[in-house]
Amino acid sequence: MSIARKPGFAYDGKTLSADGLPLPELAERFGTPLYVYSGPLLRENFRLLREPFAGADPMVAYSVKANSNLAVLDLLHREGAYFDIVSGGELKRVLKAGIPADRAIFAGVGKTAAEMRAALRAGVMEFNLESEQEAERLAAVAKSLRRRADVAIRINPNVDAKTHKYITTGKTENKFGISLDRALRLARRIAEEMPALNLAGLHCHIGSQILDSSIHPNVVAIVMDFVDEVERATGGKLDTLNFGGGYGIAYERGQQPLDLRPFAEALLPELKKRGLRLILEPGRSIAAPAGLLLSRVEYVKPGDAKTFVVLDAAMTELLRPALYRAYHEILPVEKHPMPQGLVDFVGPVCETGDFLALDREAFVPHEGDLIAVMDAGAYGFVMASNYNTRPMPPEVLVDGGEAHLVRKRQTYGDLLRLESIPPRSAGAPNT
Ligand code: LLP
Repeated sequence: MSIARKPGFAYDGKTLSADGLPLPELAERFGTPLYVYSGPLLRENFRLLREPFAGADPMVAYSVKANSNLAVLDLLHREGAYFDIVSGGELKRVLKAGIPADRAIFAGVGKTAAEMRAALRAGVMEFNLESEQEAERLAAVAKSLRRRADVAIRINPNVDAKTHKYITTGKTENKFGISLDRALRLARRIAEEMPALNLAGLHCHIGSQILDSSIHPNVVAIVMDFVDEVERATGGKLDTLNFGGGYGIAYERGQQPLDLRPFAEALLPELKKRGLRLILEPGRSIAAPAGLLLSRVEYVKPGDAKTFVVLDAAMTELLRPALYRAYHEILPVEKHPMPQGLVDFVGPVCETGDFLALDREAFVPHEGDLIAVMDAGAYGFVMASNYNTRPMPPEVLVDGGEAHLVRKRQTYGDLLRLESIPPRSAGAPNT
């Protein structure tokens, strides 16, 4: 009798594996650094997120920015996902993955007229508006194409999401959304003066990696009062309420992921009362735990204060520790006897900020060992760069018991292809 295994990453004996495939074999086959995603875990995370809200039959619009690999988009599409996009590039990706445009919601503070045209022509479901100026531009573009755009106004409720300041979005000092009184004026203007726009709903996203379960229920009350106010002021009826994403995960041992039940309990009856359709926009909670970054130890360099473990992965593969001081668990891929010590896991990039973990009480691996940086499936590869002329790593999706290379490693050729040197006559003469 076979015992059903939990999807994702686990030790089989002493070796870390991805849905039963040993990571050393993947490293051998695809090289390192390497992103590895678990298809079964992506599916499970998608389903788990939906569960507390199932009574409202929500549209779960996966936030493409978190992990935009075509294979990930395709997998979630087959699970019934909608998609939250923030650029013309993400629109292209969604279409390339064979996803109908009417499953995409176009958000973002700086949509260009060209992006609006492309999204209208493709037929996206809805635009989230971030300013009055954007509403005017979209109305003009829609009119010129003889189309009507469904829109949701993104409100900024001025609440503290108690998360890292770079990923807080619902405070007055943040660039996102529109304050309630301005949003009310805009709703009236859309209803009265902008026939090319149809005010379909409201949108509210207050930040990312939120772990305090009292925050969303408080925002529900603010948003619901505002729905009523908008409906009174415009005499119209809203169809959708988009509550954004931001549901925090447990990056550290002992942390608990955000409990969504208090949010769902506060929200569902209010939606029902008003006949509103719910949209959610999670990214991280679906993708982050379903991915890891596999890396090989190049050097183990003893220092006077601590040991530097120099990896072949760097801030170029995973920027989060350098940018936010974010914590990612680091695990040995093969559990063999290793000393413990104070360790910095660093990359080869020429920056002091190039680290994946700082001052960590951890195992001290040997040169040539493999390590896994956990919870790297969201905001990992998508934030990678070519700094120090480092090719971006490949991505592998483990699904159906097989490893699929879903993005090849960049080559130096790929990196240099877009550059050229002007003819000698264009600059100062060489002496
Ligand atoms: N909706 C909107 C309007 C957003 O701005 C975001 C994320 C999401 C949904 C998805 O949020 P999630 O469920 O993934 O938390 N690079 C940062 C995170 C930036 C989040 C940007 N917006 C990080 O690595 O932590």
